[in-house]
Amino acid sequence: MRTYYVILLFFQLWTANAELISLLTGTAVALSAGAFWGFRDRLRCHLYECCHEPDVGFNHHSLDADIANMLFGQHLVKDVVVNAIKAHWHNENPKKPLVLSFHGYTGSGKNYVAEIIANNTFKQGLRSNFIQHIVATNDFPDKNKIEEYKTELRNRILTTAQKCHRSIFIFDETDKLPEQLLGAIKPFLDYYSKISGVDFRRSIFILLSNKGGGKIAEITLKQYENGYPREQLRLESFERDLMNFSFNEKGGLQMSELISNHLIDHFIPFLPLQREHVKSCVGAYLRKRGRADLVSNVEFVEKVLNSLQYFPESSKAFSSSGCKRVDAKTDLELAKIRPLIHSSQFDDEL
Ligand SMILES: *[C@@H]1O[C@H](CO)[C@@H](O)[C@H](O)[C@H]1NC(C)=O
Ligand SMILES: *[C@@H]1O[C@H](CO)[C@@H](O)[C@H](O)[C@H]1NC(C)=O
Repeated sequence: MRTYYVILLFFQLWTANAELISLLTGTAVALSAGAFWGFRDRLRCHLYECCHEPDVGFNHHSLDADIANMLFGQHLVKDVVVNAIKAHWHNENPKKPLVLSFHGYTGSGKNYVAEIIANNTFKQGLRSNFIQHIVATNDFPDKNKIEEYKTELRNRILTTAQKCHRSIFIFDETDKLPEQLLGAIKPFLDYYSKISGVDFRRSIFILLSNKGGGKIAEITLKQYENGYPREQLRLESFERDLMNFSFNEKGGLQMSELISNHLIDHFIPFLPLQREHVKSCVGAYLRKRGRADLVSNVEFVEKVLNSLQYFPESSKAFSSSGCKRVDAKTDLELAKIRPLIHSSQFDDEL
């Protein structure tokens, strides 16, 4: 009887060991295969851009900080853009892509904000393969080639979203995009789970246009003339006008289709900039150029500010080109000043 138990015990130990060994070998094989695939994947993502961290990853804290530090005079943009993207990004099951429509005069920062968004979503920023930056007049100049353009645009959008479901599409000069092309992008913005096998619901479309710029300036000017701070202006003060505006525009049929089908999630007005905002832009540019010492030099900054145009004629409240020409104008003034041979340093030492 005892022998039997001893034999049984040996047998159990032996099988247990065998199992343990096969388990260990199995694990080792699995681990090394996993490591290999993992390594291969890492290498691939090191060489090429991949549709996940660290190449793709939205950081709302840094988007918030960038917009706060780099964009001036646009309180509504700050409020809406960060929260809209954050909500869409973290939504497990979005029903449609996020569609933002930016409106305002040139220089108010529409392209700039699109770039800041790109920089906070893709490691490669605007150079990412998962971004399409479509400039109507540049990409689709020939009115006779609309059918060709339609196919091209469709393919561009489809192949990009196929590579990454987090793709961003920026349409610059949307107001100059031929009606048929705007019509061609409509299905991508819609509530479809798949288009030609591609799911667009996690992507973002940003439409930029100057349309509505006049109305936005009018509302902002009224606020200014009445002596109220522009920060009190609310999104609702503009949204209805912007929607109505697009509806009534000549040739705005496709735009109004997008609006009436509720495919545009947010209309975001970019307000015309006042002198003080342009001044902040000059300061930011001087810091970027390593000339922080000139930021509080009133004479220098005023020279730059005075070299820009302002409207309306009566109050000259707003900069005609926003912050757009600030870099060039600042460079010009920088070139004019004689290089100071660190005279202040000498003074300090004496
Ligand atoms: C975006 O990132 C690029 C590359 O790092 C940089 O050169 C550019 O200034 C950034 N743009 C903005 C608006 O922050
Ligand atoms: C829409 O715009 C038209 C003129 O373009 C104007 O007559 C109408 O009152 C506006 N409607 C609203 C609701 O603002």
